Amino acid sequence: MTDKLIIFDTTLRDGEQSPGASMTRDEKLRIARQLERLRVDVIEAGFAASSNGDFEAVQLIANTIKDATVCSLSRANDRDISRAAEALKGANRARIHTFIATSPLHMEKKLRMTPDQVFEQAKQAVRFARNLVDDIEFSPEDGYRSDVDFLCRVLEAVIKEGATTINVPDTVGYAIPELYGNFIKTLRERIPNSDKAIWSVHCHNDLGMAVANSLAGVKIGGARQVECTINGLGERAGNCSLEEVVMAVKTRRDYFGLDLGIDTRHILAASRMVSQTTGFVVQPNKAVVGANAFAHASGIHQDGVLKARDTYEIMRAEDVGWTANKIVLGKLSGRNAFKQRLQELGVQLDSESEINAAFTRFKELADRKSEIFDEDILALVSEENLTNEKEQYGFVSLSQHSETGERPEATIVFTVDGKEVRSASEGNGPVDASMKAIESHVKSGAEMVLYSVNAISGSTESQGEVTVRLQNSGRVVNGVGADPDIVVASAKAYLSALNKLQSKADRVAAQG
Ligand code: KIV
Ligand code: ZN
Repeated sequence: MTDKLIIFDTTLRDGEQSPGASMTRDEKLRIARQLERLRVDVIEAGFAASSNGDFEAVQLIANTIKDATVCSLSRANDRDISRAAEALKGANRARIHTFIATSPLHMEKKLRMTPDQVFEQAKQAVRFARNLVDDIEFSPEDGYRSDVDFLCRVLEAVIKEGATTINVPDTVGYAIPELYGNFIKTLRERIPNSDKAIWSVHCHNDLGMAVANSLAGVKIGGARQVECTINGLGERAGNCSLEEVVMAVKTRRDYFGLDLGIDTRHILAASRMVSQTTGFVVQPNKAVVGANAFAHASGIHQDGVLKARDTYEIMRAEDVGWTANKIVLGKLSGRNAFKQRLQELGVQLDSESEINAAFTRFKELADRKSEIFDEDILALVSEENLTNEKEQYGFVSLSQHSETGERPEATIVFTVDGKEVRSASEGNGPVDASMKAIESHVKSGAEMVLYSVNAISGSTESQGEVTVRLQNSGRVVNGVGADPDIVVASAKAYLSALNKLQSKADRVAAQG
């Protein structure tokens, strides 16, 4: 047993299965790069056999990421496994993660297979995969609700076939910490060759215990890999949250006695990137990454923290990437100061032209907003395609009129393939009017399934960050826009979503 806890991030696979959270290849690559900065050990990049889009996303990530192991999920059949191996060809370190359900309910009702058939298929899949790559993870889906004798039989057999990691999913979030921890412990004690594999936990959050269950799997069960997602993103109530599990193990090293490879200073940027990309807003009181996680509002707490910070703080805010909510730059700041601040925030722009474009946006913002916070800079660079190259739609300007008792109206100027168009409409409110003005020209027919506004730095002077989720012909996309004027931010978000709908990039299909 080693003393290192492996962090296996599945934001791009299990997290992405959350309805509405599907991402484009480029979005996935951006997040994968941030996960690499965070130094996660394994990135589950997708489910290569599930769609061409997912295959390409796994391939792109495998070809780009250098430090982390890149993994693809795969059902337990030769076709899926071959696709996974093909997509992972360019990876420095590749892992195939193959799974088949083992609970009586799943085998009988979903797979319509007998336990013996499942046993044979699991063995055959691992044997096949092991001929293609060395690093094989096997998951008995719905493992926690499986018969323990049967599970021992399957897991012993797949370890013999060469599985190097055994992951025990609580697929439906049914476990209780002590019981789950003991379940892992029992499996490890009863399976004769259990020491030949690394044991892993994978918990869903349906009863709000995914993090607690994972930690119990580590502490009681002896697991040395945790599968988790940024912000706990995932289907239904989500997965085990990476930031919580990591900070629990780090903060309570006295109890867990485990090392982590994670550079926790990149946690907050990862959280923001995932939230902005998917439109899944982080609740203010969310541990570690919520806006209030380190805010001490009560006078007694403030007094205590000022005298000695550990009176009320168990973690240092800066250790997870928070900086004091201070004014960092202003209108007179130059390009070098801006570039340096980007570096301090861990933001890596790919080219000088992107830095120039971001700096131009920064200057425009500084003209309208005297105080520029780190949050503003992060929002500014998180707008995709900073240089607006090759995008079909681009925002130019907007005017709107609203007055009590009158129907609001908006006129928007935007570019379509580089040519300016002007469109006007009325609406229920100024935001509605501006969206209708765009739609009356574009005629996308898309249905808006989410609209949300968030004040980036928490006051009325801050920029509004708007997420718009559009659905059309089975595709769901998110657009994000930021501006001190929330009507403009909304229009930008709508245009960004339309660009994604129009983009030729395959959407990555959510997996059932
Ligand atoms: O929750 C689950 O069972 C899974 C498996 C595919 C590992 O995500
Ligand atoms: Zn899962």
